Amino acid sequence: MTVEEPKQNPTHALYKPNFRTERYPKNRTPWISSFEQYKAMHEQSINEPDVFWRLRASELVEFNTPFHTVCSGSLSEGNVKWFEGGKLNISYNCVDRWAEKTPDAVAIIYEADQPGGAKSVTYKELLDQVSRIAGVFKSFGLEKGDTVAIYMPMVPEAAATMLACTRLGLVHNVVFAGFSAHSLAERIRDSNSKVVVTSDQGLRGGKIIHNKKIVDEALLTCPSVTKVLVFERTGAEVPMQQGRDVSWSKALSEQNEFVPPVFVDSEDPMFIMYTSGSTGKPKGLLHTTAGYLVGVAMTARYSFDLSSGDVICSTADVGWITGHSYAVYGPLCLGVTTVIFESIPNYPDGSRLWKVVEDHKVTHLYTAPTAIRSLRRLGDEFVNCTDLSSLRVIASVGEPINPEAWVWYKSVVGKDLCPVVDTYWQTETGSHLITAIPFATTTKPGSATFPMFGIEPAILDPNTGEELTGPNVKGVLCIKKPWPSIARSILGDHDRYLTTYMHAYKGVYFTGDAAMRDEDGYYWINGRVDDVINVSGHRMSTAEIESAIIQNESVAESAVVGIEDEITGQSICAFVTLQAGLKESDQIKKSIIAKIRSEIGPIATPKNLVFVNELPKNRFGKILRRILRKIASGESDQLGDLSTVADPHSITELVARVHIML
Ligand code: WTA
Repeated sequence: MTVEEPKQNPTHALYKPNFRTERYPKNRTPWISSFEQYKAMHEQSINEPDVFWRLRASELVEFNTPFHTVCSGSLSEGNVKWFEGGKLNISYNCVDRWAEKTPDAVAIIYEADQPGGAKSVTYKELLDQVSRIAGVFKSFGLEKGDTVAIYMPMVPEAAATMLACTRLGLVHNVVFAGFSAHSLAERIRDSNSKVVVTSDQGLRGGKIIHNKKIVDEALLTCPSVTKVLVFERTGAEVPMQQGRDVSWSKALSEQNEFVPPVFVDSEDPMFIMYTSGSTGKPKGLLHTTAGYLVGVAMTARYSFDLSSGDVICSTADVGWITGHSYAVYGPLCLGVTTVIFESIPNYPDGSRLWKVVEDHKVTHLYTAPTAIRSLRRLGDEFVNCTDLSSLRVIASVGEPINPEAWVWYKSVVGKDLCPVVDTYWQTETGSHLITAIPFATTTKPGSATFPMFGIEPAILDPNTGEELTGPNVKGVLCIKKPWPSIARSILGDHDRYLTTYMHAYKGVYFTGDAAMRDEDGYYWINGRVDDVINVSGHRMSTAEIESAIIQNESVAESAVVGIEDEITGQSICAFVTLQAGLKESDQIKKSIIAKIRSEIGPIATPKNLVFVNELPKNRFGKILRRILRKIASGESDQLGDLSTVADPHSITELVARVHIML
């Protein structure tokens, strides 16, 4: 494993926050208003974790039965438990208690795909809806511990469905409604989901997505599913299978009784979220109840400085972990307003996202570098024609943010009056690991800055596993101590969980990312060191794409690499060799791409697909991706040591070929 040079050039520009001169309500002070306060809290979280977390848990979450032990178990044994002995209910914490205290406060603002179709849902209304959905689930015979798959567009009903699952102690498995029928089926089967909640159709950027049709196709191979609840998003006629498919509007309107929350144990499973790993099979990461909720509420409060009355817009779909933690559970657990944005930032034009901020007086914007880069490219006029004066904190997630995009975000979007918060974390970690604190941390463009509370990072030498202490070191990023929202297992494969995360390096959690700590102790994330690529903030496994490609009978071999892309961070480049005697053609190319889209989904479509005569291999037949990556990135003059290549002549041919193709 090699660690490459940091992509960003650490700049020395420093941005010191000051809530008195930035946009901050006069009658409030930030949760954390100085770096000293951050440091003191961080030190306590590491040196006295019991004291720190007991306090946070009691401030942020209501337990029905108090816990007796804050934390037990260890990373190396992969048996971490948090808040044991406690009983609680997630939907009670995110909905009921606010419906009691502030019933008319807005829980969700729905910004529909077509501009002009916004609507608000108050906490009281959300409670009514969550209770009705829970009632429908009960009528389906679902019981605590059963799994429900959710394949829905970004609508408030998706969040309500997730909350309804937690109300009964059901485990949800949200699958991004851009995945193909094949991927959905794989996730339904692996999680043994009994019920699927979907919509007739979805709408994104004016395009229709045939959700119900995709579910129908997926269910041909999912015998465990007995009921499908179909939300009417567009009202289109869709085939309904008698006995199995149930209309959302009809079923919910028939519910007359209030369904009380079921209090579950702190460590009871809460949800499964599939993500890509180094191998072809997606991993179903299992998150549990109390630790997850405390983790997301704590980070939502401190990383964003969120308080009641604030409006957060997290543009990530609920099908991803960011949608779970910071569009649904974090904001609602704090009783603030969350904007569910169904569309895309540039539909119908480049001012859409900014209009959303203006229309709904968004105070906190949370989006991905890809979106920032592509909106920046459209020009400042789209930003400047809107009123963004409601914004107070602007945040980024999903991939490293390059300093140019960071500075544009800060100056053009934030008018130099809002701190930029770059949050580094993962599906596995549930909540932020490394992030600036908006009104406390002096930021450097491109650096995620310092560890969140409870997080003790370590940079290790990738080959020896030795910790590299002090400033100016780079290596693989690991975390030394357990934190509440860490995933507890990979569903059905605890061994894979142990090998991937806990045993790669002794006694620590391995993130799979490379990082650098600079002379001032700032962390810079340099991207994955495994075979995971990150396109527009979406994680994909090269092995998964390769296995879709080789299903085409014309294909002999394939190798997929991620290469740097100005807008999407990385893009997919696939190298393909054909069976002997076959000639490349547009038709073969089209059928390979169609297979990738049907096996995984449109998000896995390669930007470049190159037919080559031979792939570079070492003497043991292992494909040398490092070389392919360099060639695809136009760095054929920097291929480095070629002594391991079995047939060095193949490289010359490959370089010439790729040069013509790309
Ligand atoms: C990358 C998304 C740099 C990283 C929350 C990580 C980032 C993977 C950042 C997790 C960031 C996420 N800076 N890299 N601020 N945030 N990443 O599971 O490689 O979809 O391992 O979770 O995205 O992606 P995931």
